[in-house]
Amino acid sequence: MNIRVALSGFCVISFFTLTSLGQNDAAPSIKPATMKAVCLHAHNNTPEAVRFDETPKPTPKAGQVLIRVHAAGVIPGDWKTRDGRFGDLSQYMPLVLGYDVSGVVESVGEGVETFKEGDEVFGYLSNGGAFAEYAVGSERELARKPPNITHEEAAGAPVSALAAWYALVQRAKLQEGQTVLIQAGAGGVGHYAVQIAHAIGATVYTTASPRNHEFLRELGADVVIDYNTERFEDVVDDVDVVFDMIGGEVLERSYTVVKPGGYLVAITSKLPQEKLDQYGIRGSFLATPANGKALAKVAELMASGKVKTHVSATFPLSETAAAMDLNEKGHTRGKIVITVQ
Ligand SMILES: NC(=O)c1ccc[n+]([C@@H]2O[C@H](COP(=O)([O-])OP(=O)(O)OC[C@H]3O[C@@H](n4cnc5c(N)ncnc54)[C@H](OP(=O)(O)O)[C@@H]3O)[C@@H](O)[C@H]2O)c1
Repeated sequence: MNIRVALSGFCVISFFTLTSLGQNDAAPSIKPATMKAVCLHAHNNTPEAVRFDETPKPTPKAGQVLIRVHAAGVIPGDWKTRDGRFGDLSQYMPLVLGYDVSGVVESVGEGVETFKEGDEVFGYLSNGGAFAEYAVGSERELARKPPNITHEEAAGAPVSALAAWYALVQRAKLQEGQTVLIQAGAGGVGHYAVQIAHAIGATVYTTASPRNHEFLRELGADVVIDYNTERFEDVVDDVDVVFDMIGGEVLERSYTVVKPGGYLVAITSKLPQEKLDQYGIRGSFLATPANGKALAKVAELMASGKVKTHVSATFPLSETAAAMDLNEKGHTRGKIVITVQ
């Protein structure tokens, strides 16, 4: 008879066979398989709320893949989750934080066909769990990691590069020869957007503070605007596409520089249809899907060297809370990445 020892209601972590034990055998000591992970215990930024814990190692269910995590990317969504900005997740706590992962397949659940043990994969885990030694993700969320990039470079990409790819390619359908304005080109999403737009063959305008101007020109930006001293609408007008990731007043002003019939795509605020109509433009808010097929297209761009991850800082797993704090300051160049192993 197989006894299953389940912790947390969902994590099956140990098996043994009672009938294989003889009368005189010592009682088995059941040691649950555990791992190190960064767990959220409450929606605030205190050492009691964000803890480096020993926690049950997850088991892949049908359609899921267990990943031995090598690196995990930091995104604003991590500290927004910590602070409860995506809703109250108390009922799921302690929950393992982190969305972006790169690692090696340890095992697969029933029905998984795309990946097998030993494959290098990366992905955006929509249910989180990336800040850990092991993580589970749906087969559909993952793609193969290009062999010519590191796990740190791969881990930086999923949410941020997918957001840039969906915004420019799938929504705005940016074409060679068109012009695009990318707000906040130096950050996580922005630095991928600049490279993707340049690879498409568009003329790329972007905003950043001066310390990032040379960095952005090297990535393919044609014109870099210092948002502290210049108004972008004094430099650029009638663009085919604006990609906004700032919101607020920057988004309000962005409507004015899109040419009639052009496209405005935003990832922090919804765009009222009446406002788009007022300017005679098209547009949409993008909530980036965790889609492995789309990520495979990003992976092709990364494999070819057309799109690279700029890793500006790395932290060990035990210091993930500090990595999130650094990202929250709002001036990350490229990506901050957690090195797990
Ligand atoms: N809806 C979605 O699916 C989705 C997906 C991904 C991200 N997001 C959201 O998009 C936003 C950006 O994400 P991210 O990962 O790119 O953030 P990030 O990496 O933290 O962005 C930091 C960058 O923003 C630049 N910046 C700050 N204020 C600026 C301004 N007023 N004008 C121009 N640049 C400015 C900074 O450049 P300087 O140092 O030069 O100031 C820095 O390089 C976040 O709010 C995130 O939550 C949404």
